[in-house]
Amino acid sequence: MIRTKPALIPYIFALAAILAGWVWQAGDQMAGLGHMVQSGEADIGGPFSLIDQNGKPRTDADFRGRYMLIYFGYTNCPDVCPVSLGVIADAVERLGPQAARIAPIFITVDPERDTPSILQQYLAVFSPKLIGLTGTPKEIRQVAREYRVYVAKHPTQGGNYSVDHSNIIYLMGPNGKFVANYDETLGPDGLAAALKKHL
Ligand code: NI
Repeated sequence: MIRTKPALIPYIFALAAILAGWVWQAGDQMAGLGHMVQSGEADIGGPFSLIDQNGKPRTDADFRGRYMLIYFGYTNCPDVCPVSLGVIADAVERLGPQAARIAPIFITVDPERDTPSILQQYLAVFSPKLIGLTGTPKEIRQVAREYRVYVAKHPTQGGNYSVDHSNIIYLMGPNGKFVANYDETLGPDGLAAALKKHL
């Protein structure tokens, strides 16, 4: 007989929340695509001024001339963030020399805990190419809003918290404008193939 271990229950709730988020997000993306067809340009993205994992200031303007592959998440994320970052890192590796045209960027939605040094330790596990960005809570709220990223903090046991967030990998063009969006279900090969169409 299979019994759910009590320790797993929070994860099951988290998974349910993520699935609910996907449904919500899918609706939002459909609305976004409808808008794009009408105006010829998606209203996703915008200026940011943040700090990278080495403590260096970085703005969106620093990446003009290169594509930005942007993912929002947080280092304490138990599930989808590590998977997405693994897919992004592996997909970029598969691009070979073309990888130089892409800046893979991880923007934290948990700036209180994700300091530059935490980002540095975490991202080093995935790829030396990954650029991690953090900032003040206000700066992070602003960039999340520009990218239409849903972020919601939920208290957990022991005074801790988790952060529900949209699960979208954005490709922004060399001019900083929205090009396409993906998710980790493509896998490294699928994402690499999708990126190559634009490079
Ligand atoms: Ni996550």
